[in-house]
Amino acid sequence: MAAAGITATGEQGWSSRTAFILAAVGAAVGLGNIWRFPTLAGENGGGAFVLVYIGFVVLLGLPLVLSEIFLGRAGGEDAIRSVRNVAERSNRSTSWKGLGALQITTGFLILSFYSVVAGWVINYVFVSGGDFLGSLMAADPFSVAFSGETQDQITGRMGDLFASPGKLILLHALFMGATIYIVASGVHNGIEKAATWLMPAFFVLLVIITIYGAFTGNFAEAVAFLFTPDFSKLTPMVLNDALGQALFSLSLAAGGLLTYGAYVGKDVNLAPTAGMIAMADTGVAILAGLMIFPIVFAVGLDPAGGPALIFQTLPVAFNAMPGGALVGFVFFILIFFAALTSSISLLEGPTAWVIDRFGIPRKMAALAVGFTAFMIGVTAALGYNVWADVRPLGFWNIFADTDILDTVDGFTGKIMLPFGALLVAVFVGWRADVNLVKAGSGLEGGMFVLWRFLVAWAAPIAVFLVLLFGLVPGLLAS
Ligand code: PHE
Repeated sequence: MAAAGITATGEQGWSSRTAFILAAVGAAVGLGNIWRFPTLAGENGGGAFVLVYIGFVVLLGLPLVLSEIFLGRAGGEDAIRSVRNVAERSNRSTSWKGLGALQITTGFLILSFYSVVAGWVINYVFVSGGDFLGSLMAADPFSVAFSGETQDQITGRMGDLFASPGKLILLHALFMGATIYIVASGVHNGIEKAATWLMPAFFVLLVIITIYGAFTGNFAEAVAFLFTPDFSKLTPMVLNDALGQALFSLSLAAGGLLTYGAYVGKDVNLAPTAGMIAMADTGVAILAGLMIFPIVFAVGLDPAGGPALIFQTLPVAFNAMPGGALVGFVFFILIFFAALTSSISLLEGPTAWVIDRFGIPRKMAALAVGFTAFMIGVTAALGYNVWADVRPLGFWNIFADTDILDTVDGFTGKIMLPFGALLVAVFVGWRADVNLVKAGSGLEGGMFVLWRFLVAWAAPIAVFLVLLFGLVPGLLAS
């Protein structure tokens, strides 16, 4: 247990290696796995996307997770100062701190719409909770969820929610409020505590529900969809989406890991820790796919259904299961937990910076940052109703038909995350002092050489090519 870290302002950091792993896995596992991954896999034709995604996670994501945690711990402060510190110790330009600034901005923007989507989850916690209560009152706890409704009525609930700006904003406020509360409570007393309670519970239920889905849904078709690559579907845009999703899901390039890394004790070996984070995150994404697509096919929904997909499929499935009222209720609570342990990492990045930069108390900083992100998120919520016709980047052909939420999501995912990752790769691979990098990584011999090769060569070249072919043709065509 002697692995306790400490934050720049002298606050207690993670109390142990396990605590750090849970917090980091909590940051990684979230709506990215359960909502964004199935949405993108469905929109991009399944197998080929999944294969490329896994390729990016292994060859690029995993090495970068280690790079970012290393940078954070070696720098020991907020994301911006940490990078500056490492640049200074490596006799490099302190302008590299711009890398930290880009990441924090990215995380802040992601938080703004992430909270809106998490609000949808809360809606379903309430709805399914009501159904569960109803089934209890009917003295029939094993009845189905959403009782008595047809499939169209169930899937239609999503449209009803989207049509109500007041509801969307209120739910978004609830979620952001919970996020602010935890971050304001501190690294040890807030973030760590939340992760150590919520993550284990989440994993147990996820496995149970997946096994259940395997027996009830159209499992074979889902497996074929997810794991049979159709390479004719592999366009540069699909590669760009897969790269963005790998980064998003691993919490890379958005300030989260840089910031969490700073709270890790000096005696924690980072390499196996990075491996565990990447494995847990990818495992959950695949499980989520195996849980959602059998249902999609069983009930004949379109896999390319977009952001509403999981909110329409899962209730339909729960509706058909014995005990579905209970399972559905618990399940949405667990998605909510997963989202919360991620959103706190999104808020912690900019908050830590504000604390360091302006010297204000943590509570004030968390509130100020969280409130600002909330206000930006409100525009995303309105993009489903009163501003449904607004296309913020409509002049650019890849965003031509993209509403506000999808635009912020797409811009951060397709552009900002890859750029942030590119900078980390170049900085750690080429500019940071090699001895510092080697000692911090905990890797030796061939493993160190391999890691450094992936960070210095494979990652920058791959990201550069993806950005070039994914974005430039679109820009030229606009
Ligand atoms: N990885 C989180 C998820 O998959 C989202 C996230 C991105 C969190 C970036 C922190 C930083 O839901």
